[in-house]
Amino acid sequence: MAVTRTFSIIKPDATRRNLTGGVTKMLEEAGLRVVASKRIHMTREQAEGFYAVHKERPFFGELCDFMISGPVVVQVLEGEDAVKRNRDVMGATNPADAAEGTIRKTYAESIEANTVHGSDSEENAKIEIDYFFKPEEIVG
Ligand code: RTP
Ligand code: MG
Repeated sequence: MAVTRTFSIIKPDATRRNLTGGVTKMLEEAGLRVVASKRIHMTREQAEGFYAVHKERPFFGELCDFMISGPVVVQVLEGEDAVKRNRDVMGATNPADAAEGTIRKTYAESIEANTVHGSDSEENAKIEIDYFFKPEEIVG
């Protein structure tokens, strides 16, 4: 299996509860390596641009409000089949449906305040990584 990259966000519900380390530990234990990481407070424009694919969804406004409600940690993760590996350890979008041992089952508060974002395809991973990181900020 090829070593690939994916993009992750530790969301404001997690930074507020001081869970940056706890979430990162679960990512690392799942075989992912943090090759870039920074704590930022997104502007509304950044959040709306990042979630542009969801702009017709009814929860778009609330989702953007939530994502700018506090700091987030944006990360590039590397590992074998990184997109799927990360989605597997994240668990289902709604923590009520998430499997035992996943990040969302362990930490998420609700379907919206669900602790982590992870890219859903390699194509989107590249777009999302480029949205937040310059190439020289990624150090494998
Ligand atoms: P993500 O993009 O954050 O990794 O999560 P996902 O693929 O599992 O979920 P997606 O369908 O892409 O939705 C993006 C984020 O929007 C919020 N959401 N709220 N209120 C709702 O019904 C609802 N549905 C989704 C969640 O924060 C979700 O992660
Ligand atoms: Mg998604």
